Amino acid sequence: MNIKKLFGSLVALAALAGCTAQQPASASLDELFLTRRSIRNYEPGRTISEAQVRELLTAAQNAPSWANQQPSKYYVAISPEKHDAVLEMIGGNKDRVVNAPVFIVSTFEKAKSGFFRGNPANDAGDFWGAYDNGLSNAYLVLKARDMGFDTLIMGMREADKLRELFQIPENEIILAVIALGYRAEEPNMPVHRPLDEVVKFF
Ligand SMILES: Cc1cc2nc3c(=O)[nH]c(=O)nc-3n(C[C@H](O)[C@H](O)[C@H](O)COP(=O)(O)O)c2cc1C
Repeated sequence: MNIKKLFGSLVALAALAGCTAQQPASASLDELFLTRRSIRNYEPGRTISEAQVRELLTAAQNAPSWANQQPSKYYVAISPEKHDAVLEMIGGNKDRVVNAPVFIVSTFEKAKSGFFRGNPANDAGDFWGAYDNGLSNAYLVLKARDMGFDTLIMGMREADKLRELFQIPENEIILAVIALGYRAEEPNMPVHRPLDEVVKFF
């Protein structure tokens, strides 16, 4: 068995056994894919600094976007006051992320990505803004794992209340709230659909 195959087998074993919290300083992309999981229980009493969140969001800015429009915006609840306020705006997610020290609200500016001189460039319209925000958030959660953090992307949230709390302008669509913290559980690997169910080669 060559080294590559051996590493592949070890990675597969790790996936079966659950996904470990330990993250080496420079994890490979495959390791990040495996160990990045949605975490629904966080270690209490741990903090994350503004400088660390800045590093994370700077990495997210590397994501591609339509014509480099960069429509994604982020509102970071890092103070205890804003943290506790957000906890009341995420419905049933509250108990899952109560110990995550930071929440990041992601939005995108309307009529930017997928638009040309104010008009939609094609049928997908503002879906391109959502597309770009998702790409940016994918970078964010992988970078978080690389920095030793864990995340939960939450679509269950109360957009109107978040808009008021952070004074988010009406021209931004509020998408996910992302919890950021340190895992206090070892998650299982979710079941993925068979590749041939979702891919067709021609
Ligand atoms: C757009 C989006 C919204 C989600 N909303 C929630 C949510 O509100 N609550 C939650 O517990 N998980 C939420 N999740 C996490 C998914 O359930 C999770 O990604 C999926 O089960 C796959 O597990 P994994 O992230 O560990 O690979 C969301 C994920 C995405 C991408």
